[in-house]
Amino acid sequence: MTMTDHHAREIAPAGGKLGVLTPGMGAVASTFIAGVIAARQGISPPLGSVSQMAHIRLGGKEDGRNPLIREFVPLAELDDIVFGGWDPLSPNALEAARTCGVLEERDLAPMASELEGVVAMDAVFDKEWVSRLDGVRVKDVANKWDQAMALMADIENFKTENDCDRLVMVWCGSTEAYSEPAACHETVAAFEQGLEDDDPEIAPSQIYAYAALQSEVPFANGAPNLSVDLPCMIQLAEQRNVPIAGKDFKTGQTLMKTMLAPGFKARMLGLRGWYSTNILGNRDGEVLDAPENFKSKEVSKLGVLDTILQPDVYPDLYGNIDHVVRINYYPPRGDNKEGWDAIDIFGWLGYPMQIKVDFLCRDSILAAPIVLDLALFMDLAARAGESGVQEWLSFYLKAPQQRGGADIEHDLFIQQTKLKNTLREWMGEQPVTHSEAG
Ligand SMILES: NC(=O)c1ccc[n+]([C@@H]2O[C@H](COP(=O)([O-])OP(=O)(O)OC[C@H]3O[C@@H](n4cnc5c(N)ncnc54)[C@H](O)[C@@H]3O)[C@@H](O)[C@H]2O)c1
Repeated sequence: MTMTDHHAREIAPAGGKLGVLTPGMGAVASTFIAGVIAARQGISPPLGSVSQMAHIRLGGKEDGRNPLIREFVPLAELDDIVFGGWDPLSPNALEAARTCGVLEERDLAPMASELEGVVAMDAVFDKEWVSRLDGVRVKDVANKWDQAMALMADIENFKTENDCDRLVMVWCGSTEAYSEPAACHETVAAFEQGLEDDDPEIAPSQIYAYAALQSEVPFANGAPNLSVDLPCMIQLAEQRNVPIAGKDFKTGQTLMKTMLAPGFKARMLGLRGWYSTNILGNRDGEVLDAPENFKSKEVSKLGVLDTILQPDVYPDLYGNIDHVVRINYYPPRGDNKEGWDAIDIFGWLGYPMQIKVDFLCRDSILAAPIVLDLALFMDLAARAGESGVQEWLSFYLKAPQQRGGADIEHDLFIQQTKLKNTLREWMGEQPVTHSEAG
């Protein structure tokens, strides 16, 4: 196949301003906003952001073509981003950043007024879904249909007042209590009826998702709650021609897991057990201290090993694994989580070996560039005419949504290839199948 066999897609230009709306203005959202401002001011490059920092190899190795992704595809410029969002507690991004304590005051001070100007709108909030928080900046609207309408009005007003050309929404709100899809989630009509009837199965994050999609705003979900991972939302996204992606930012321990497990498998080393424990002391940790909220996270974290290791294909190596995940709320650590992994592997003649990983990570420092990339790539997808689930963004997510019944891909490196090949394909370049190096 020659390069001329590939036809570039028509992608609308990224002119004008892009509004990035985050339901939830806590640690992740405020760190994301502060980092983009720092990058704009030349204080720090956007480290960890693939859309901003990574190169992409084009054609054969001998061609020597290796542009930056942001110079290869038409992404919105950082200078063109406008921030907005909702929160039941934080009044603005400065307060949020100070409360969560991720960034030092010396880093916040030069951008304090800009952060203060990012004012959180009153939230659609329900303590039933996040028992550890007492929302105060909450819309005084009881009925769920009316709440959806109020959010749609917020979206419209934000767009007009900030002179935005386009919007995207990235859920950075607390993890909601675990729930499974119910009858009201089967179709758009059933969901709308559920909104009118105040169906208790409808969580706030779903109301934001509905409002976004009805407003033709792409929606990415950074938490493990269902939000757009529901038949009704997939249907609505297709109907309204809007891209969606979820769920749960892949940071910290799961990022490590999806880097290490493909390596063990590549070398045909067996795995007997993987014990993961975390201590963290931020508001996220406090919310996850409630068992019903932890359940959402646990399901999302546990899913990754099986699909990478394929126990059905390799029963001798991966047919008997104990995989345990724990999260403990421990206030002294704040946002600086400590993730311990005790990994029991085995090799030649079945001899056991142990690997210990002690990752002293900073959760929001790892999550912030993901918010940026998801926002920019979701906006790109919309301009490229995409709608529905964006599997190529699985790279960023712990529990990626898939189209149809296909198996979920968790291997970070296969996900990376898929992401870059999607960009190559859209731009009329040949896919690369063997190596991303260079
Ligand atoms: N930091 C990471 O590495 C990481 C990784 C994966 C997922 N996440 C998820 O991202 C989300 C944000 O994490 P964080 O560390 O910023 O938490 P956080 O507690 O600092 O911020 C969440 C914010 O959401 C707000 N909120 C709760 N319900 C809301 C609602 N209905 N509408 C609007 N706002 C609402 C809370 O008031 C809070 O300010 C969490 O769900 C977390 O599990 C974070």
